[in-house]
Amino acid sequence: MRTRPPDPPRRVTTALPGPRAAQLIQRGSFDLQSPYRAVVFDDLASAGCSLVDVDGNVFLDLFSSFALGALGYNHPAMVAVGRSPEFVAAACNPSSTPFVTSPSWITFMEALQQRFAPPGARHAYCVDAGGEGVESAIKAAFIVHGERRRRAAGRPASPLELPPDEGKAWMENRGTDAVIVSFDGAFHGRGLGPMSATHSKLMHKADLPAFPWPVVPFPANRWPLERYADENAAAEAASLRALADVLDAYAGRVAAVLVEPVQSEGGDRHASAAFFREVQRLAAQAGAALILDEVQTGTGISGRLWCHTWFDLPTPPNFVTFGKKMQLGGYFCDEAHTVQQFGRMYQTRNGDRARGLLALATLETIEADGLLENVRTTGALFLDELSALERSFPTLISQARGRGFLLAFDLPDAGLRDRFNRRCLELGLFASYTGVRSVRLRPHLITGPAEVAEAMGVFRRVCSEMVA
Ligand SMILES: Cc1ncc(COP(=O)(O)O)c(C=O)c1O
Repeated sequence: MRTRPPDPPRRVTTALPGPRAAQLIQRGSFDLQSPYRAVVFDDLASAGCSLVDVDGNVFLDLFSSFALGALGYNHPAMVAVGRSPEFVAAACNPSSTPFVTSPSWITFMEALQQRFAPPGARHAYCVDAGGEGVESAIKAAFIVHGERRRRAAGRPASPLELPPDEGKAWMENRGTDAVIVSFDGAFHGRGLGPMSATHSKLMHKADLPAFPWPVVPFPANRWPLERYADENAAAEAASLRALADVLDAYAGRVAAVLVEPVQSEGGDRHASAAFFREVQRLAAQAGAALILDEVQTGTGISGRLWCHTWFDLPTPPNFVTFGKKMQLGGYFCDEAHTVQQFGRMYQTRNGDRARGLLALATLETIEADGLLENVRTTGALFLDELSALERSFPTLISQARGRGFLLAFDLPDAGLRDRFNRRCLELGLFASYTGVRSVRLRPHLITGPAEVAEAMGVFRRVCSEMVA
């Protein structure tokens, strides 16, 4: 890993929110998430793993805005792109990239497809955010599934070659009986398609229409894995049986099985590599595509560029979605799921050229600075330390778990978890939450052993205070 100048030292010198932050929050008519109401960010002063607020408080950032941050604040590679004439021009001259593109976008797409795509991916499709990437992958899966069904019935694949009155059903929202299968606890984004495959929190879904797609249980392994091996194997077997039953019940109608390599918003829930291999086998057997949603787990945070590569899948997944650290959203797909007919998959801004420049800098820096290796070694150290914390405070901390920098642990209930995070914030450490009672850590990929030691000092102090 490249040595970097020391981060601004962490310190909290005001009540939270500080006076300037409080004033600004008063002015903002938007909704600041309540547990983090304290932080109004000074993004000029922030550096490395240090998030600086407008009152000069400096936090060790283990939150990275829900895993958006990759290289830490004001990384020289990102700042150099931001100051470059190409970036300024791309940001100031938005274009519809399928119609009006530029050499830098072509260079980015070439690098994405040839150097940074997961194995087996042949095509990349870019939109703005992660949820749109999932929405787009779902649409592409439906399109390919529909074309295959028509072809199997000896009919034209393209809807444009069908008799005109046949299009009427689609135009009047009497579309397809095909479905997407998803897992309970999943989170795939806020659009109505991904939301129909999302099952993590009532507040995400209440009052919204949803497609009546089937849902199967997700195993959610208990940690430490060796201690709960039998229980976890039984939960995975039950989940796979439920998946097989659903695929039978909807035979010929499942366009895709959609799953996160680690359920992130749903509580950092993990399953084994063998589980994912079996999900893939069952999906393929049912003629359904496998969509792996890597919006949160992708772009290096698992210690590999794409988390699913830890699963040794016998063949590449059909779709892998991306977002967050990638700077833009989208998906990769294999040859068979590339939608050929222009206009079926299209958005005005199929990829923001300015964000493409930042994405390329992110990916090249991850590679050049050995950040995947850092995430693997520092992540293993962090997990060991969290497991030791669990042993020291068994009534407070449980289920220390993770892969790379996808790290989490549980507290007994949501109230204690929120108190824990709040106290960490007061002591200069910004952690996140997930699921019902979990603390979620999403360190920037540059985080090293010194930051782990610092974090553990804060965690130990907060635990001691809470059990006192
Ligand atoms: C797995 C997964 N998919 C999709 C999304 C949606 O991404 P965005 O909010 O950037 O649209 C998220 C966001 O947390 C996510 O974790």
